[in-house]
Amino acid sequence: SKLVPLAACPHSPDNVKTVEEIGKIKIDQVCIGSCTNSSLQDMRKVAHILKGKTLGMIFEKSSTRTRVSFEVGMYDLGGMGLFLSSRDLQIGRGEPVEDTARVLSRYLDGIMIRTYKHSDVEELAEYAQVPVINGLTDDYHPTQVLADLITIKEHKGHLEGIKFAYVGDGNNMTHSLIVGGIKMGMSVSVACPKGYTPDAEIMKWAEQTGRFTCTDSVLEAAEGADVLYTDVWASMGQESEAEKRRKIFQGYQINKDVMAVAAKDAMVMHCLPAHRGEEITAEVLEAHANEIFDEAENRLHSQKAVLVKCLGQ
Ligand code: CP
Ligand code: NVA
Repeated sequence: SKLVPLAACPHSPDNVKTVEEIGKIKIDQVCIGSCTNSSLQDMRKVAHILKGKTLGMIFEKSSTRTRVSFEVGMYDLGGMGLFLSSRDLQIGRGEPVEDTARVLSRYLDGIMIRTYKHSDVEELAEYAQVPVINGLTDDYHPTQVLADLITIKEHKGHLEGIKFAYVGDGNNMTHSLIVGGIKMGMSVSVACPKGYTPDAEIMKWAEQTGRFTCTDSVLEAAEGADVLYTDVWASMGQESEAEKRRKIFQGYQINKDVMAVAAKDAMVMHCLPAHRGEEITAEVLEAHANEIFDEAENRLHSQKAVLVKCLGQ
């Protein structure tokens, strides 16, 4: 079928398993055994598995990491990525998604899309005859979580049993982290202000495993955590709420007080871009820069696994 797992980050618990499949594929293909970052870098230009293949990359929102890692990933694998800004595409002038999907399918071997409404990705996947990859919607950010899982495995040696704590807005990142973390055997605690908690259906699914909690207390979520993770208080598309959110999210920050209650060797992660002094202090970010920028680098390696899985023979 043309529907590819990453297009389908879960709206229903049944879809959750697709994330697990991709998670395992990624870890097996990209993070084989004790593969380190440098050996992954050495592999970069070896295999042109996607020689002659093309990926269209539709961006309705800004991007540094997702855009560059997909584009370089395609190049390294022998193919080509085309950056397609919705500002320039006819889709930005109202051409229907269903028509765009059918047209692009005649030219391309795959489509990656970063957009607002998750239903646009689903519609694109429904009408496209080629694989569709979710490069972030208002609801999910699955490809980031693949890189996050690789990074945790690299630094901690395993995923099963890891105590993972997320601090901040119950947003697209949180949803994909809950799904990915729970599916890979971690326990997940999230701390969000009241009214900004993750999607109720995803939390209900996660709670059934007995490995998920949601609280409004940052210290409670962070207690004994092996991994602390945060993301911006105002996501792309929420710019007009930024001022209001700055007040509501005061205290939902990874800082030295939070580090003090976490495990001694706790990792700190951030999908980036970061707002120093808001969701994370500059001090904590710099102290954990190695982990955070490994995480950013791993976007490239995990993207390649996704591309091989979706566009390979
Ligand atoms: N983390 C992430 O997706 O970064 P970009 O918005 O720069 O792609
Ligand atoms: N929650 C953020 C993630 C950016 C990678 C956003 O959607 O803007």
